[in-house]
Amino acid sequence: MAQVRIEHVYKRFGKVTAVGDFDVTVKDGEFVSILGPSGCGKTTTLRMVAGFERATEGEIYISDNCVSSSKTGTFVPPEKRGIGMVFQSYAVWPHMNVTENVAYPLKIQKVPKEERLKRVQEALEMVHLGEYAARFPNQLSGGQQQRVALARALVAQPSLLLLDEPLSNLDAKLRESMRFEILALQKKLGITVIYVTHDQAEAMAMSDRVVVMDMGVVQQVGRPHDIYTHPINKMVADFIGLVNFLPGKATGGIVTIAGVEGSFANPTPAVQGEAIIAVRPENIDINKESGLVQGTMNHLFYMGDSVDYRVQVGEHLLRVIKKGADVDAIRPGDKVYLTFDKLMVFNKD
Ligand SMILES: Nc1ncnc2c1ncn2[C@@H]1O[C@H](COP(=O)(O)OP(=O)(O)OP(=O)(O)O)[C@@H](O)[C@H]1O
Ligand SMILES: [Mg+2]
Repeated sequence: MAQVRIEHVYKRFGKVTAVGDFDVTVKDGEFVSILGPSGCGKTTTLRMVAGFERATEGEIYISDNCVSSSKTGTFVPPEKRGIGMVFQSYAVWPHMNVTENVAYPLKIQKVPKEERLKRVQEALEMVHLGEYAARFPNQLSGGQQQRVALARALVAQPSLLLLDEPLSNLDAKLRESMRFEILALQKKLGITVIYVTHDQAEAMAMSDRVVVMDMGVVQQVGRPHDIYTHPINKMVADFIGLVNFLPGKATGGIVTIAGVEGSFANPTPAVQGEAIIAVRPENIDINKESGLVQGTMNHLFYMGDSVDYRVQVGEHLLRVIKKGADVDAIRPGDKVYLTFDKLMVFNKD
């Protein structure tokens, strides 16, 4: 059982602040993702929890034990933190075969050979590599090596699992099945997981809560649904899902969009003056009969399960996605009407 408290943690590399004031508590048994664009500080944060990187400031507690403190100088090395970890570069040892790689953590724990082999086989089955036990890493694909690293992190059944983009090298189908396996295992063993990814769909699908980071700073922490429906700022709205941004103005309870007739209710009255109006493509209705906003269909992409339209409205090109739409119903050049639902309003800066 492991709760992780990361309290006001900073990491500076010279003048670069890779992580600034990271302050999040991951509950026992919780699955928390750290999500954000490349270079935002995800790996650095995870490595500080693991003990491969020393925080410049702040405290880290695992199950109420202080493992890192800039105040007292406490620093518990990685092997004493009781964690399993898959690194972004999924380092597997080239001179050991798959079984030896996965068995390594158990060997360190002095687990007897017979039990060791049994648990290694179980871990390999879990990542669909049961047949590959005798192979060496240079005889495996990137995705297979990544799964060896995952099996090695799981085999010791740690109470805290830290995963840094563990599925990035897998094809879409295998990635989905591995997501499911990791979640099922996490629930079964009741382990706490901190999962780093820049794939928002993965974070949404797997997590109890998501931590969205940008430029070293936590932007928002919340359940996937809350973050999707109530992003705190433009960055989060943009990074999670698809969104149209339009310049506009908020006055009292009303917002207007530059170059678009009519006005809309302001869902965030705290924002006043120059504003960014945001609407997700799936929250725009499109038809040829009637609606508040007029436009011209510019072009469309047939996606199989949906149609992805680009609609010219004044100077703006809006994206509209309709599930199950008839691809022949609205064609390029057609006059159309749009109706916006679930508008989001942000401060201009
Ligand atoms: N050892 C280091 N020395 C100097 N700068 C570093 C070091 N490690 C990381 N950084 C910098 O810290 C910032 C955060 O890096 P980090 O690896 O945590 O990003 P990330 O969110 O994991 O990105 P990615 O999605 O590309 O893996 C980057 O600007 C990176 O260049
Ligand atoms: Mg990284």
